[in-house]
This record gives sequence, C-alpha cells and structure tokens, in this order.
Amino acid sequence: MKHEGKVAVITGAAQGLGLACAERLHADGAKVMLVDVQEEKVKAAAAQLGENAACWIGDLLQITRSMADEIVAATVGAFGKVDILVANAGIIHLAEFVDFPEQMFDDILTINLKSAFLLGQSAAKQMIAQGHGGSIINMSSINAILANPHSVGYAVSKGGIKQLTAVMAVGLIQHGIRVNAIGPGTIMTELNLRSVMATEEQRRTILSRTPARRLGEPHEVASVASFLASDDASYIVGQTIYPDGGRLILNYTVPVEE
Ligand SMILES: NC(=O)c1ccc[n+]([C@@H]2O[C@H](COP(=O)([O-])OP(=O)(O)OC[C@H]3O[C@@H](n4cnc5c(N)ncnc54)[C@H](O)[C@@H]3O)[C@@H](O)[C@H]2O)c1
Repeated sequence: MKHEGKVAVITGAAQGLGLACAERLHADGAKVMLVDVQEEKVKAAAAQLGENAACWIGDLLQITRSMADEIVAATVGAFGKVDILVANAGIIHLAEFVDFPEQMFDDILTINLKSAFLLGQSAAKQMIAQGHGGSIINMSSINAILANPHSVGYAVSKGGIKQLTAVMAVGLIQHGIRVNAIGPGTIMTELNLRSVMATEEQRRTILSRTPARRLGEPHEVASVASFLASDDASYIVGQTIYPDGGRLILNYTVPVEE
C-alpha cells in the first residue's frame, strides 16, 4: 500500500473533505490522527476507521503555537512520528462586502489560514527532526483565484493559503518536505449545502460554470491528497492542484441539466 508505515494528521476530519482524506490515507496504509472540534463526530469517525486511527478534539479558532505543538505531540505519542499533514479545516461565511462582519473576517483567517501556518510549522519541525522528509498539503479553493463578492474572508484566506504553500515549499524542500495545496471546485459537503449551494438558483449558477456538468465528490479530492502525499508526486513542489471539473478554465457558461 502506498502509505504503509506513514503517519498523517488531518484537520477538519470529522466530515466532508477532511474525513474523505483521512479515509483515503488510512485505506492506503497510513495511521491517521483526525483533528476536529466536533467531538462526537470525530470520535465516531476515528472509531469507524479502527486501530490505526485516533482523534484530537479541539477548536482551531483558539489555535496557538502551543496548541499546534500539542497536536503534533499527540500524534507522535499515538503513532511515533508525523509524515503527512493535511491542513484542511475551514469555514465560510457569505455577506455583501460592505456588510461583512469584522469578527467573522478574523475568525475565517484564523481557522482557514493561521491554523495551517502554525500546524505547518509544528509538523515541519517534527519532520526535520525525524530526518526523512514528509508531505504537507494545505486545502485551498478555486476561490484563491476566483472572486465571489460575497465571500471576502474566505477568498482572502484561500489566496493566503496559495502563497503560504509556495513560501513553505521553497523553505522546506531542502529538508525533503514537499508542500503543495489542493484547490477544489464545488464538492458536495455540508459547507456548501449551508452556503454556496443553499438554493436551487445557486446550484444552477455553479453548474453553469462547471464544464464537467456535475459537482465533485469528496473522494475526488481525497485521491489528489493521497497522490500529493505519495512518491508519485516526488517532483511536485509548491503547486496548487485544482480538482474543479474545469471551472477555472471556462470563460463561458455550459447548459445545466434539470
Ligand atoms: N466543499 C467544497 O466545495 C470545498 C471547495 C473548496 C475548498 N474547500 C475547503 O475544504 C475544506 C473542508 O471543507 P468541507 O467542504 O469538507 O467543509 P465541512 O464544513 O463539511 O467540514 C469542515 C470540517 O472542519 C471542521 N472545523 C471547522 N471549524 C473548526 C475549528 N474551529 N476547529 C476544528 N475543526 C473545525 C468542522 O467541524 C468540519 O468537520 C475547507 O478548508 C474548505 O474551505 C471545500
């Protein structure tokens, strides 16, 4: 198996893309530490995966240097090391630019961007000490490139992830640590059902801009994470890969099936 003997930390792993990444890495042989604020859900997810899975429960809105170190230390305590970090936890809030709440802007940047920065530092220090490289994957979005007037906090956080990834990549490759990002299009998860996919009109708008003429599935993002974490991606450094059904390349609209 591709990730046999490796240990992965995945944030936001109670559901959605984080859970799909945890399931895929686990299926590919990795031991996985699932990090999430939803206690019951993340415990159930780890229990479902079995003995090579554990969870760390906490709120990344409160992320500090010591909390990030604690997550890495808990993973080393459970499984002996850290080879892979998937910094995936994220939130979104939609509001007109002029009405966007200041507190929400701060919260989004803390969870979506700062937690990836601090956990990236902690995981990288651990990987450097271990001495045999590693892989860090940050969850970006097509919103790192595209501008939605209703999601300034989210778009800024994902644009930040794109450059965080690039800076980490050039800083860490000397240690054999490859840092990349994934920038999904619209994937069927609760985050979207609560936001950009909340109404039929929104669904049609998104599909009209998606050449694949369907939404993505979480496993179609998890497979990219597994690839990026593997030796098959050994020369991919500092890139954002966009599993988006063709969304970013389209300069038109496509017909939407009923
Ligand atoms: N679903 C999509 O279409 C899509 C597209 C592009 C990028 N993304 C990104 O993928 C990531 C996952 O999104 P998703 O669609 O799976 O969302 P989701 O809402 O289904 O899952 C997010 C997970 O993160 C956890 N989380 C949120 N805030 C947290 C906090 N403060 N502390 C700890 N855990 C916290 C939640 O409990 C949840 O388990 C996010 O970074 C999101 O921006 C999603």
